[in-house]
Amino acid sequence: MAPGTVRIVVDSPEAMRELGRRLTGLLRAGDLVMLTGELGAGKTTLTRGLGEGLGVRGAVTSPTFVIARVHPSLVAGPPLVHVDAYRLGGGLDDMEDLDLDVSLPESVVVVEWGEGKVEELTDDRLHLLIHRAVGDTTDEVRHVTLTGVGERWAAVDLGVLPGLS
Ligand SMILES: Nc1ncnc2c1ncn2[C@@H]1O[C@H](COP(=O)(O)OP(=O)(O)OP(=O)(O)O)[C@@H](O)[C@H]1O
Ligand SMILES: [Mg+2]
Repeated sequence: MAPGTVRIVVDSPEAMRELGRRLTGLLRAGDLVMLTGELGAGKTTLTRGLGEGLGVRGAVTSPTFVIARVHPSLVAGPPLVHVDAYRLGGGLDDMEDLDLDVSLPESVVVVEWGEGKVEELTDDRLHLLIHRAVGDTTDEVRHVTLTGVGERWAAVDLGVLPGLS
């Protein structure tokens, strides 16, 4: 495994939310979190935990029509900008309409389905790859691979995440 990469087994939706909550301890304004994983992997569930951990207003949902939703902080912290880029076809052109480059410096931006679309926003990002365990008896087990990309994450120890609860 590459340095700066951590793999966590998450065995329930509640544990996925808890991972999101714990993750916020490492996050600050200007951070981009990229979530990769198939339909129903748990990207929005994790984002719900991020919203709880950041103490933001409004329920984190899977928007049907809205592509980006801003959740302002209730605790004088950074807002959470939740982007679901699933319906965005083209690369950065479509993304540019969202003005994420404007909101990123003061926000935590989390993007579902953002690969190939958001990388140009910043050199630094935290990438979470979520996939279902194959052949497991329950369908609730997920494997989450976290990778910090860029200088921002070079000295961050993601290993603090798995042990806590
Ligand atoms: N360990 C788990 N972690 C997260 N979700 C789980 C887990 N086990 C079961 N689930 C269920 O899987 C579903 C995950 O849905 P969610 O909307 O979070 O996925 P998603 O990756 O955002 O999907 P989409 O690509 O459609 O946006 C929920 O119904 C959740 O209850
Ligand atoms: Mg989703």
